[in-house]
Amino acid sequence: MTVTVLEVPTTPFAGQKPGTSGLRKKVGVFRQPHYLENFVQAVFDSLDGFQGQTLVVGGDGRFHNREAVQTILKMAAANGFGRVLVGRDGLLSTPAASCVIRAHKAFGGIILSASHNPGGPEGDFGIKYNIGAGGPAPEKITDAIFAATASLSRYRTLENAPEVDLGRIGETDLGGMRVVVIDPVADYAALMETLFDMEAIRRLFRDGFTMCFDAMHAVTGPYAHAILEGRLGAPAGTVINGTPLEDFGGGHPDPNLTYAKDLADLMMGDRAPDFGAASDGDGDRNMILGRGVFVNPSDSLAVLAANAELIPGYRGRMTGVARSMPTSRAVDRVAAKRGWECHETPTGWKFFGTLLDAGRATLCGEESFGTGSDHVREKDGLWAVLAWLNIIAARAQTVRQILADHWGNYGRTFYSRHDHEGLDAAKAEALMADLRAAPLLGQTLGGRKVALHDDFAYTDPIDGSTSQGQGIRIEFEDGARIVVRLSGTGTEGATLRLYLERFEPDPAAHDQDAQVALADLIATIRDLTRLKDRFGSEDPTVIT
Ligand code: G6P
Ligand code: ZN
Repeated sequence: MTVTVLEVPTTPFAGQKPGTSGLRKKVGVFRQPHYLENFVQAVFDSLDGFQGQTLVVGGDGRFHNREAVQTILKMAAANGFGRVLVGRDGLLSTPAASCVIRAHKAFGGIILSASHNPGGPEGDFGIKYNIGAGGPAPEKITDAIFAATASLSRYRTLENAPEVDLGRIGETDLGGMRVVVIDPVADYAALMETLFDMEAIRRLFRDGFTMCFDAMHAVTGPYAHAILEGRLGAPAGTVINGTPLEDFGGGHPDPNLTYAKDLADLMMGDRAPDFGAASDGDGDRNMILGRGVFVNPSDSLAVLAANAELIPGYRGRMTGVARSMPTSRAVDRVAAKRGWECHETPTGWKFFGTLLDAGRATLCGEESFGTGSDHVREKDGLWAVLAWLNIIAARAQTVRQILADHWGNYGRTFYSRHDHEGLDAAKAEALMADLRAAPLLGQTLGGRKVALHDDFAYTDPIDGSTSQGQGIRIEFEDGARIVVRLSGTGTEGATLRLYLERFEPDPAAHDQDAQVALADLIATIRDLTRLKDRFGSEDPTVIT
């Protein structure tokens, strides 16, 4: 039978609106007939000039990844792409997809992932489009995609096309389009070699340095095995949970103290290795731990910036840093000392794209366990781990010493985020509306006078685009700050996030637990938002 292009009539699905990081829904939603196809066609309909061009396709390996890849391959062929690069077994971590798009000058890429959300038949699935620069599509494109989903009447696919064998590296023809199955690790590992002092890290491991990397049964397993144990010579067993599973072993592949609890317990116990790290479902997030110490992501960004000169790929080329608004201002202090630009952007990695492209930021990061640089246009979990290893090797210090030195030089910014998950969405919206409208400026709350109260708005300095309503900021005269926003990535009810921070210049006061150091701010925001009255409980579900 001959392979032909087929136009399938369809009707729109409501709510195919890409969120902070693409379209994320329950697997069951994605498995409805035409659901994925509609969205993919809307993506293609929103793009111009891709005929004959290259598309990159891959995902984090979660349940439904394989079927979705096959669907996308057929649709890409039917819509006129010339070539698709797809990771073996349909796998590509999010940062690796960004790397492959850039390395092969692709037109763009489709990444299948719901990041750190649980997988499996009852779990989540997701899809997002990345542009040729390698980063997530800007709002202009995601808005166009959403508009297209609302008026779609047909999609294009292939009839009588065979399944592509994703298990074998090589090239095949699919309805006149070339499908190239690539090693998902190769381009990425080659890029890492250009950035880090691999020999110094190799020496570190040779001299007995110990590490545990928890891949959480997700996509970074193959990358970590190949780079840490392969190229860097870390002993076998350094990587745990290193085989990607469709349901992530039933776990929640989010590298934080709650969901990577086994690793956190190991690092706080007597048998802790020198260094601990974890990455999330699709490999863009990271958690960093030393023996007996957790490095909060805001501090991690600040430490990487302060030590960037020790990393070959960044030596002499730091121009600026960027952080999302709720991320602590620890990195601002480094930038101020070094005379670098420092940008405050809304939550979402996509807001860093223009700054990175324009060379206005070299490193960037978010409190939500995302750190990265201009090497790709996604945050990059394993990159952060390698950066820490490079710094540990260069400074010949433990993680704890590096942190203590950093706080000694720059002061410590105590920081914590409290999440209240699974809230009634209408009640959560009402809380935000009340907080926005409250006349707080000049008032004294918990003994501190409010110096700024706004709903964060951002104008991109490069392309002039604007974003409103990005989270409520309450800043006090003594520099302490509370930020309140609703998560843009949850799939059930609403998640309220409270971000608390306070600067402490005195080294004698640095060795406190962050929850203790922030206790008064925590009480202030709970009272102000009347959390207990509204939701029946004021206890967060996750604390980081
Ligand atoms: C994703 C995005 C990040 C963002 C994070 C938190 O991981 O890639 O850029 O910081 O979600 O988003 P949320 O809206 O749930 O706080
Ligand atoms: Zn992720």
